[in-house]
Amino acid sequence: MAGGPAPGNPDAGGVDGGVGLTALLVAAARAIETHRHDSLAQDPYAEHFVRAAPACADWPVRIEQVPDGDRNALWGRFARYFGLRTRVLDDFLLGAVGAGARQVVLLGAGLDTRAFRLGLASDCAVFEVDRAGVLDFKHRVLTSLPAAPKVKRVPVPVDLRDDWVTALTSAGFDPAAPSVWLAEGLLFYLPSAVETSLIDTVDRLTVSGSALAFEAKLEADLLAYRDSAIYTATREEIGIDLLRLFDKGPRPDSAGDLTARGWSASTHTPFDFTRAHGRGPLPEPDDALEGNRWVFAHKLRQ
Ligand SMILES: C[S@@+](CC[C@H](N)C(=O)[O-])C[C@H]1O[C@@H](n2cnc3c(N)ncnc32)[C@H](O)[C@@H]1O
Repeated sequence: MAGGPAPGNPDAGGVDGGVGLTALLVAAARAIETHRHDSLAQDPYAEHFVRAAPACADWPVRIEQVPDGDRNALWGRFARYFGLRTRVLDDFLLGAVGAGARQVVLLGAGLDTRAFRLGLASDCAVFEVDRAGVLDFKHRVLTSLPAAPKVKRVPVPVDLRDDWVTALTSAGFDPAAPSVWLAEGLLFYLPSAVETSLIDTVDRLTVSGSALAFEAKLEADLLAYRDSAIYTATREEIGIDLLRLFDKGPRPDSAGDLTARGWSASTHTPFDFTRAHGRGPLPEPDDALEGNRWVFAHKLRQ
């Protein structure tokens, strides 16, 4: 990728560890979802990322490769959660583009391949914002495949704790035209003040008719579900300690902040969509998913 990180740059933030590795976790989950007979979302690129990364050489890409299958808290239930989340945000994005947005901004894009796999209007631009190391790995894998984006795809290598507005606008984002934004699996890794400033900035960079969906964690204490089987399995089976990666501070009320700024915002549990689609995770005792909310916001006025 032009402008990619220097090899070995310790600040580049690749996919081999830390929060970058969570992008591969979601990719593996999407690969598994893709191969399900009752799949909620199709991502034919996902398994190629998993296969290309030494860090996850032995991870499954099909549920049949998991000895305890759907009973496995990580590759069964948690992966299905990611499959459902992908589908719901695909639908949100397509709705916003159908309503006129032609700029898509993926904050913490990771290995999201919506620019390739969704039937977006051909005059759309998709801006993929993530750290250089993640986007560099993604570029390497995608260029090894017969893959061509269906729309203009613009990688924006920047850390969201730095001046990402300059990076995004220099890459061609136009704040005067409607846009749709996703922050999928991102905000709880960021300090509360960074989340607040990010939401404030999205408001500043958008005109009415724009839309934003994000995933948040509700509980004041992110450790409330520290013994959830999802966290334990993710730590013990693939060495990703999500509780260590999450920011520990109290979370801001970003949906409330948007409402105060003239947006409509509706907040749902993932279980609402499990019921709507007839498949996906349902509540369990001591469940990390219990605290997750998906927020869908539309800017009504400037
Ligand atoms: C769980 S992954 C989700 C990726 C993608 N949104 C998806 O759902 O497939 C979290 C992503 O957020 C990115 N991320 C976390 N903190 C970031 C930061 N400070 N700046 C830019 N990206 C960040 C990580 O590199 C990673 O790709």
